[in-house]
Amino acid sequence: MNLNKQFWENRYKEERTGWDIGTISTPLKAFIDQLENTQLKILIPGAGYGHEALYLRSKGFKNVTVIDLAEQPLQHLKKSGFPPTHLKQGNFFDLDEKDYDLILEQTFFCALNPKLRSKYVLKMHDLLNDKGKLVGLFFNLEFEKDGPPFGGSKIEYELLFKDFFDLRVLETAYNSISPRANKELFFIFEKRKQN
Ligand SMILES: C[S@@+](CC[C@H](N)C(=O)[O-])C[C@H]1O[C@@H](n2cnc3c(N)ncnc32)[C@H](O)[C@@H]1O
Repeated sequence: MNLNKQFWENRYKEERTGWDIGTISTPLKAFIDQLENTQLKILIPGAGYGHEALYLRSKGFKNVTVIDLAEQPLQHLKKSGFPPTHLKQGNFFDLDEKDYDLILEQTFFCALNPKLRSKYVLKMHDLLNDKGKLVGLFFNLEFEKDGPPFGGSKIEYELLFKDFFDLRVLETAYNSISPRANKELFFIFEKRKQN
């Protein structure tokens, strides 16, 4: 299966967007609600309809960028008043703007071919500034059907990230939406500077 732009564009065209929960996820809302610095430079890759991005804007965060392969959700975000200058249509792995303080993960990692997981870790590391953080949710289960979504386990995520990030938090989210209760890990990974 080629998980390219065409694949994702079709999913939006056919309205097969089962991942979209229609609002910001409760664990990410709780995390954002305790942030104080609205100047943070934030990236949301594979943002889809971008509920987190809109929520951040509503809370006064102005430096929020979204990147997605598919055009339709970006158009939707634009119509919702999200500034077009902060919307990028393209491949996350080709993104060259760096120095993010914070990158939010919400069902983007699980949408990628698992062969790309090491590349994801390195790209996240590269995009963050020193002490920047990758924060979000990973599924803590294997799916029966061939993905996407592709699942994983706590130990797998630890092994993937531990050489590049300090794993500050990686635990079952206590405040998931009910269909995802006990099925996802909330994490806060802080970039470790490489010597
Ligand atoms: C499962 S959806 C999740 C959307 C959103 N984060 C949510 O939770 O509703 C995955 C999204 O990632 C986008 N995507 C997949 N591969 C991508 C890539 N390499 N670069 C940028 N976006 C990508 C897809 O177009 C899709 O919008």
